[in-house]
Amino acid sequence: MGSLVETPLPDNNCNGNNHHHHNTHDHVYDQTSVPDGNRPPENNMEAEASRKRRAFDVLPLEVGTRVMCRWRDTKYHPVKVIERRRMHFGGPNDYEYYVHYTEFNRRLDEWVKLEHLDLDSVETDVDEKVEDKGTTQKMTRHQKRKIDESQVDGHEELDAASLREHEEFTKVKNIATIELGRYEIETWYFSPFPPEYNDSLKLFFCEFCLNFMKRKEQLQRHMRKCDLKHPPGDEIYRSGTLSMFEVDGKKNKVYGQNLCYLAKLFLDHKTLYYDVDLFLFYVLCECDERGCHMVGYFSKEKHSEEAYNLACILTLPPYQRKGYGKFLIAFSYELSKKEGKVGTPERPLSDLGLLSYRGYWTRVLLDILKKHKSNISIKELSDMTAIKADDILSTLQGLELIQYRKGQHAICADPKILDRHLKAAGRGGLEVDVSKLIWTPYKEQG
Ligand code: ACO
Ligand code: ZN
Repeated sequence: MGSLVETPLPDNNCNGNNHHHHNTHDHVYDQTSVPDGNRPPENNMEAEASRKRRAFDVLPLEVGTRVMCRWRDTKYHPVKVIERRRMHFGGPNDYEYYVHYTEFNRRLDEWVKLEHLDLDSVETDVDEKVEDKGTTQKMTRHQKRKIDESQVDGHEELDAASLREHEEFTKVKNIATIELGRYEIETWYFSPFPPEYNDSLKLFFCEFCLNFMKRKEQLQRHMRKCDLKHPPGDEIYRSGTLSMFEVDGKKNKVYGQNLCYLAKLFLDHKTLYYDVDLFLFYVLCECDERGCHMVGYFSKEKHSEEAYNLACILTLPPYQRKGYGKFLIAFSYELSKKEGKVGTPERPLSDLGLLSYRGYWTRVLLDILKKHKSNISIKELSDMTAIKADDILSTLQGLELIQYRKGQHAICADPKILDRHLKAAGRGGLEVDVSKLIWTPYKEQG
């Protein structure tokens, strides 16, 4: 399982609190079975000579090349070369390569040196054939899988053209790490920061107003002036040390934009809306005597034609896998209940997003099914939970709890089977205490 690696940073901040370095790369590891790609080192001279010949034939590698690459687990995994760049002090043939591990999510893409690549495994005929067909028509899942095995998550609703455009534009991560409050966090994806920030490997965020800067000294100067100690907007929930703030993107435009830039570093398939006016942001914080520290957020359109009750959701990596994601999801449904509407998250869902939603839906629905000995319909479940009927159906189908009888869906709810599924669904996460939610649905003013 992915353990959270936290190593202290040098203690050079002004308030003397411990910094934490947070390594987020263990995250896919627990979802993907890693095939044993280990190969023994070849030490003899013949091998060395053949390697040199091979290097001469294939270097520098073309973009699109498929080759095996040594990963942080010290094993070899298949990658595709996404981009290459000359090394600063290298010769004309000395390149670094930006690679995508085809078995893993794009958040693990990285720059690697030549010595990580096993040149004997280079596949020279680059498979552009597959990528060239079907430019405009929607691809089947199978075709997409051929293009890139690992890239199915979150791509379901993108056609080939927009998928390619998305990947071309966002192919290389621009910012590698950020500093936010006590944490240094490795980023996952490209985010379209204004051009003047794109030459920085690291950005420094004010954890309260989310302004970002290129240098630590700028941040330190900013922290002496910044008078925010929590997100702008209204505190609509407080329970223990947890608080939720509702931020109107129209009233707090800069904050909304900063939040989107920050969030995009961890969200792959989300268009960045500069039009933050149309959204409300629900920012979850852990509060202490120094202030309210953001742990995650979700955004929500003020008016959604498609009944979306959540646009983007993020738990910052240092806080992941502690139940905050399920709290945010539960919170979004509590808001829908207060509005008297059913809701559903905006698509596509990411791999982690889908896991979290599946877990939430499963637990909520099975808890009700357990209590209701009598028959209950999907419509009734939807009314009770604010979960959209389609999502209920797909969840129960996934658990094989739906039978199709006389043209109608029927839920079969054998208590033993329910218990088994509930156990498998894992921990419940942090509870939303509805009595602590003080909120009225959004109304246009003026
Ligand atoms: N590996 C395996 N399973 C995971 C992982 C992981 N790395 N992370 C979450 N899960 C699953 C687990 O089933 C977990 O439940 P469990 O801990 O009881 O087993 C469940 O998801 C939720 O765990 P939480 O701790 O409640 O969720 P978390 O605070 O980690 O937040 C979230 C989940 C928001 C999806 C987070 O992973 C994240 O921010 N990811 C990056 C952004 C993203 O992908 N957002 C969703 C995009 S889709 C959309 O916005 C509509
Ligand atoms: Zn600030």
